Amino acid sequence: MKFKLLIILAIILNTGCKQDTTKDIETTKNEIKKEWWKEQVVYQIYPRSFKDSNGDGIGDIPGIISKIDYLDSLGIDVVWLSPHFDSPNADNGYDIRDYRKVMEEFGTLEDFDTLLNGLHDRGIKLIIDLVINHSSDEHKWFQESMSSKDNPYRDYYIWKPGKETNPPNNWPSFFGGSAWEQAGPDGEYYLHYFAKKQPDLNWENQQLREEIYELMRFWLDKGVDGFRMDVIALISKPQNFDDMDNEGLKHPEYTYAYGPRLHEFLKDMNKEVLSKYDVMTVGEAYGGNAEKTLEITDERNNEIDLAFWFDAVRVGRDNFKQNEWTLPEFKKLVKAQSDVNSHNWPTFFLGNHDNPRVVSKFGDDSPEFRVTSSKLLAMLLLTQRGTTFLYQGDEIGMTNYPFTSFDQFDDVEIKGNYNKIIASGSTPESYLADLNKMARDHARTPMQWSNTNKAGFTSGDKTWLGVNPNYPEINVNNNLQDKHSIFHFYRRLLNIRKGNDNLIYGDYKDIAIDHPQVFAYTRIGKNKTYLVVLNMSKSMVDFSLDNKFKGYNLIINNLNDDTTTIEHNKLTLQPWEARLYESN
Ligand code: NOJ
Ligand code: CA
Repeated sequence: MKFKLLIILAIILNTGCKQDTTKDIETTKNEIKKEWWKEQVVYQIYPRSFKDSNGDGIGDIPGIISKIDYLDSLGIDVVWLSPHFDSPNADNGYDIRDYRKVMEEFGTLEDFDTLLNGLHDRGIKLIIDLVINHSSDEHKWFQESMSSKDNPYRDYYIWKPGKETNPPNNWPSFFGGSAWEQAGPDGEYYLHYFAKKQPDLNWENQQLREEIYELMRFWLDKGVDGFRMDVIALISKPQNFDDMDNEGLKHPEYTYAYGPRLHEFLKDMNKEVLSKYDVMTVGEAYGGNAEKTLEITDERNNEIDLAFWFDAVRVGRDNFKQNEWTLPEFKKLVKAQSDVNSHNWPTFFLGNHDNPRVVSKFGDDSPEFRVTSSKLLAMLLLTQRGTTFLYQGDEIGMTNYPFTSFDQFDDVEIKGNYNKIIASGSTPESYLADLNKMARDHARTPMQWSNTNKAGFTSGDKTWLGVNPNYPEINVNNNLQDKHSIFHFYRRLLNIRKGNDNLIYGDYKDIAIDHPQVFAYTRIGKNKTYLVVLNMSKSMVDFSLDNKFKGYNLIINNLNDDTTTIEHNKLTLQPWEARLYESN
C-alpha cells in the first residue's frame, strides 16, 4: 500500500516537474556550441555611399578609414564591406573585373590594408564580399573565353548554341530580359542570371574552382576575417537547359538556386580553403526553402557557417510590389528562422543594400514616430537570436528617399526590368509608387554625417546618388550630440548584448504570436531570462503578461530613462514603445 502511494506520489511529482520544465522560462533547452562568429554584430558598409574623402562624390576606403572611430564608438564587432574590387560598376561592384585589385574610385590595396589594420587595432573584424557566381564581362577570363571556342578559358563560363535565331532556352535574367546573350565570333550565347555584364562562372570547371580558391586565399592571407558570399546558392547550375515551366519563370530563383552540385562545391571550398583559417562565412542563400538553407549551414556538413534568410525581411514582397503585411505574419517568419536546430545558427537582419530603409518598412518614418520606432527596431534587432547584421545609416534612423522620377535612380535592376513591368500591366506612375516602397536605391543614398553641404558625405558639389533631403535633421552629428538619440540607443543595446551569453545564446520564445500590434518574446538563457515587449503600432495598447514575469526589471526602454520593476501583469504601452526586461 505504502509502496503504491509512493509510486503515485512520484508520478505526481514527476508530471509536476515535467510541466514546469516545458513551460518554465528560466531553463534553456539548448546546448549550443559557442563560436565567436555566433556572437557578432556585423555592420554593413556600402563603400560607394559611406564617406567620400576626395570630393568626387563617390565614397571610398580613405573615407571609411576616417570613420573607424565612429564605428568603434557605436560598438559593433565586425564590418562587412560590400564589394571593393576593381569593377566597371554595372552593378556597383557586384561585377568584378579583377579580384585582386581595389576599385580605383575606392583607393588602393595599401588603403585596404590600412583599413584592415585600423579596424583590427580596435578589435573590429572585417569580412569582405565574395562575388563568385559571376564576374564582370570585362574580367580577363571572360575576354579570353569570348574570343573563341577553343580558348582555354572558354569553359570558365557557360556557353550554348542558340535555337535558330533564339537563345538556348527561355530563362529570364533577374535584371530583365533573357538570361542569355550572344557574344564572340562563334555566335554562341553565354548565361547571365543578372545583367549582361555579369556572366555566370562555370563551377563545373575544376580549374576555375581552383582559381577562385586562390583568390580567396589572397584575401585571407592578408588577414580578412571571412566572407559574405553573394548569391552562393546559385553557383551550381541546373543541368537541364530545356525550357522551364511558367511557375519557374515567375520565380526563377527557385529554379536556379540549390543546383545538383552545390553541396559538393561548398564542401570542397571548405576543405581546400576555409577550414585552414579561423574565419566566418555568411551566404546569401536566396532561392531555397528552410530545409535547403539549413543543409548548407549545418555544422556537420562543413560547408558555410551562416546564411541570410529573406522571408522575414521581405514580408509582403511580391517581386516589385510591396503589399500589406500583418505583424503575426512577420512574427511567424522570425520564429521560423530563430527555431533552427542546434546544428545551425541563425542570422538576423532587417535591411541591407538590396532593401528599403528599415524604419520606412518596419517602423513609422513620419516626424512623429521616426525616432521612437527606429529605437524599437534597434531593440528588435539586438535582442534576437542569431548573428546580427546592422546596415549603415539605420543607427541614425535614415529613411527611404522620396523619388519623384526615374532619372533619380541608379539601380541596374530597376532600369532592366522597366519594359517587363510596364508590359505586365503597371503604368510608369504605379511602378514609381511601388519603387518608392521597395527600391534598392533607398538604402544606397549617401550616409548623412552632418547638416552641411551634401550631408557632409563629400566636399564636392555632386554625389553619385542623391542625398536624402532630410539630412539637415537626420544626420550623425545630431545623433552624437543628443544623448537620447537613436545612435546612443543602439550603443546602449550593443553594450547590453556584448558578451551576454544569456541574450546571445538563450532560447527564443514568442509569447504572443497572434497579437496584431505587440511583438513580445523571451530569450531564455542559462542564468537569466530577458523579456522584450514591442508595441509595433501607433496606438496605445494594453498588454497582459503572465504572472511569472513579476519582479522582472526594466533595463532599457525607448521613451525615457526610467527603470522599473513589473508590479502588475498589465502593461500600458505607448505608441511604438519598446521595453527590455531582465529576470533577477
Ligand atoms: C546580390 C547582391 O546583394 C546584389 O546587390 C547584387 O545585385 C546581386 N547579388 C548580383 O550580384
Ligand atoms: Ca571619392
